[in-house]
Amino acid sequence: MDYNDIAKKLKTNLNETRYLHSLSVSDTATTLAQRYNIDQHKAKLAGLLHDCAREIPTSSLIDAAKEYHIPIGPIETCQPILLHAALGAILAQKKYLINDTEILDAIKLHTTGKADMTDLAKIIYLADMVEPHRRYDSINHLRDLIKNSTLDIVMIAAFSESLSFIIKKGQLIHPQTVLARNALIAKNICHG
Ligand SMILES: [Fe+2]
Ligand SMILES: [Fe+2]
Repeated sequence: MDYNDIAKKLKTNLNETRYLHSLSVSDTATTLAQRYNIDQHKAKLAGLLHDCAREIPTSSLIDAAKEYHIPIGPIETCQPILLHAALGAILAQKKYLINDTEILDAIKLHTTGKADMTDLAKIIYLADMVEPHRRYDSINHLRDLIKNSTLDIVMIAAFSESLSFIIKKGQLIHPQTVLARNALIAKNICHG
């Protein structure tokens, strides 16, 4: 399937707002890939498909995750919506015939991140946060950083923003997000 076939099929599985968000993440990821010298075709596809499992009803996410042997920890049990990322990677492979493990991994990591993410996974996480339909207070700070900073420095700010949002909402923090942020700070900022 080429990009247009995938987009056509995706449209039948998402509501209009989420479909438009997916197209927007795809475009933003392509621009970020160009900015940071990453494979633009992979970015375009991963961005398009990152939320392909987002409309599996919350009540079915746990069962679907069990079916595909996706690990379900206490955080996923409390917030099953997180599972749409790992399930998205499975659907991208099975339904949309994507076999590139880097693309699948980027889809899988777009909700929590992880230490040692690929640059592709970083820009999908970021594109999801800064695509033009998104509205929140510090979005312009992230957009300005993208113009002036390395990808890792932008990602530290993106993870910080996600974590403060989660804390404000009183939700559980996924340790993978903390580890992802710590790894980038250790690598890019701590030189002692
Ligand atoms: Fe998502
Ligand atoms: Fe998204």
